[in-house]
Amino acid sequence: MAGKNYFFILILVSAVAILTHGHGLTAEPNSIKNWFNNLPHAKQKITELQFYVQDILSGPTPSNVQVARASSTFTSPTLFGLVAVLDDPVRTRPSPDSEIIGRAQGLFAFASLEETSLHMTFDLVFTSGDYNGSSLSIVGHNPYLNQNRELSVVGGSGAFRFARGVVGVNTVSFDSSTGDAFFQYNVTF
Ligand SMILES: *[C@@H]1O[C@H](CO)[C@@H](O)[C@H](O)[C@H]1NC(C)=O
Repeated sequence: MAGKNYFFILILVSAVAILTHGHGLTAEPNSIKNWFNNLPHAKQKITELQFYVQDILSGPTPSNVQVARASSTFTSPTLFGLVAVLDDPVRTRPSPDSEIIGRAQGLFAFASLEETSLHMTFDLVFTSGDYNGSSLSIVGHNPYLNQNRELSVVGGSGAFRFARGVVGVNTVSFDSSTGDAFFQYNVTF
């Protein structure tokens, strides 16, 4: 067992040695390494963002699609076992003609036998402004029939490296005939 661990560590070390030869772009290993080296001089700060996620189930290009379910899913009162993938537009206002500033990309599963609730794991990928190319990784329990839910920011990339925080999510609009919805996200990290 000890030998196996040692082998694992050796592989890790050589992988790091290979990876640190990159240079140039901010996501390249040397740049990331320099960023880490400067961390002790960085000040911790709190960032607050507010935006709206548009969930589109209807029409020819839904942004939220079911990919799998159990044979018992549709007899389950909580849709237990249904798995879906999303690529929802992130907008500045809860309106389909407002500016798109990013995408919410990832997946969720109906993960409760007793309440209608999702386990979600997805990235908020920003595509405009100062945060273009940066992302926040979100995980959490989403009992989405409740007006207010809370997800976790578990990490980030680019401008959001080492992000850790909370997302307050609430439903702004929901069309019960199509399932289309707008959610307000208040992110503090
Ligand atoms: C965001 O970054 C990508 C890749 O660098 C670039 O192609 C795109 O034009 C940028 N978008 C905006 C709105 O700045």
